This record gives sequence, structure tokens and C-alpha cells, in this order.
Amino acid sequence: MDDRPIGVFDSGFGGLTVVRALIDLLPAEELVYLGDTGRYPYGPRPLEEVRAFSRQIARRLAEVHDVKMVVVACNNASAAALDLLRFELDVPVLGVIDPGLRAAVRVTANSRVGVIATEGTIASGAYQRAVLALRVPVELCCAACPGLVELVEQGETDSEAARDLVERLLAPLREAGVDTLLLGCTHYPFLARTIGAVMGREVVLVSSAEETAFEVRSILDETGLGRRSRAKGSHRFISSGDIAWFEDMGTRLLGLELGQVEQVSWGSLAAGDAAPSGWESNAWG
Ligand code: DGL
Repeated sequence: MDDRPIGVFDSGFGGLTVVRALIDLLPAEELVYLGDTGRYPYGPRPLEEVRAFSRQIARRLAEVHDVKMVVVACNNASAAALDLLRFELDVPVLGVIDPGLRAAVRVTANSRVGVIATEGTIASGAYQRAVLALRVPVELCCAACPGLVELVEQGETDSEAARDLVERLLAPLREAGVDTLLLGCTHYPFLARTIGAVMGREVVLVSSAEETAFEVRSILDETGLGRRSRAKGSHRFISSGDIAWFEDMGTRLLGLELGQVEQVSWGSLAAGDAAPSGWESNAWG
């Protein structure tokens, strides 16, 4: 048994979808969530930069908050840094790409799965590689959706502008005849109503949040890292941006009071934050 918290991070509010699923499934676990709102969105940034940010955040969670596990609740950061973080940290590290994909593969009946994500995630090829690794006869239709993360971060999930943008971005997936749509960005479940209305009732939307929470539970069971106490765990929230905004928007999006949000400041990236040279080809070659 291990009473230390689970660390969860994302570029901003998106990872709160995973936090919600963790709170529901594992109410006794203590959580520390870091939303990097001071540097969001990650999607348009080069993968090496997202890798350096992820490394900085994961180290902070491990060194300052002494977490027993890290959940990379961001597809972009998972695509950029999951292998590296697994290599460097001595606690289990879980991303959101594999759990979400496995759920989508289970759901599809016509073997045509749409994946929507940020530009960085789609360009990384992480989903395409993950489906090959699963060795299933499923065709992925991937679409980058620039602008959707910003809508969520601005609290504009139901507006006419949101609907227009979603319609335009998802048109190729409707034409491709997918019967399942994987929300490959943890921000997108907040837009599920708009996305669902555009795709139509016959298309099933899959989010990685619940599946990731189930995987966290399996890891805790297998490793014996679950919390000893059955009392409700506490949840700490940390942001690198405006903490009053984080508290207000986060409370609305999560549907639970966040309480006092703590501030983290990064300064500029240090040389040690970049991945060791040669890492990229090892990870993704
Ligand atoms: N929630 C992040 C993801 O799952 C969004 C990344 C961003 O900030 O662009 O990819």
C-alpha cells in the first residue's frame, strides 16, 4: 500500500476529464493535478518543446509532490514524451493514447475509426503507430483540429462559433463513414455535445478518460500501490497561468469545487529539460 498521491498533468483544463474519471473510480486516491495554462496550447508547438515541458512537469510532480504514479492526461504530451518519462522516472507512467484507442477498437462495428486531435498529436503519428501495434484490422481516419482547445480554454463549448468550426473540421470524417470517433485530445470531451450533434447519432464518441482511469486502477492493483485508507482522498490543483481563472473555469468544467489553486512558475527552460540527444530516434525511429 502507498499513501502518496497520483500526479496528473495536461497543458490546461483537458486533463480534468481524466481527473473526473479518477475521482469517480478511485475516490480514496489523493491527486495532484498540474495544468500548464501558462504555456497552453501545446498542439501547435514543436514536439521537442512539448517533450521538454512534459519532462519539467513530470519531474516536479515526482520531486516536489512525491507522486507514486504519473498520468500524462494529454495526448500531445503522451505522443511527445511518454517513452522518455517511462525511461526516466522510477514510478509507473501512463498516457492516454493506448487506453483510448483500445476502447475505440472495441466499439467499432465497421472497422472505420475517426481520430481527432491537435496538430502536434496527429503529426507525431502516435495513433497510427499505436493501431499498428495492436495488430487489428481497423482503419484510422485522422484529422487535426486546430482551434478546439482554445474554445474549451475560453469556456466556449456551446457557441455558434464552436459549432461552425466543429462542422468544418469534422466534414472529412463524416464523408469517410466512420462509426466511432475517438476524442484524441483530453479537452474534446467538453465539446462532446457539439461534436455529437455534428457527427450524428449513429457515430459513437469515445473518450480516453474512463479507460485511462480503469488502467490506473489495474496498475494500482498489480503493483500494490493503492492507498491504504478508504477515506475520500484530497485533490490539489496547480496552474502555471492565472490561478483565479483556473479555479473558476476548472470548477465549471470539472463540476466540482477546485478549492484554492496553487501557482507554479517555470522561468525559462534549462538545458537539462531537453531530452538527451538521440532520444527521439530511439523513441520513435
Ligand atoms: N489536452 C491536450 C491533448 O490531449 C491538448 C493539447 C493542447 O494544449 O493543444 O492533446
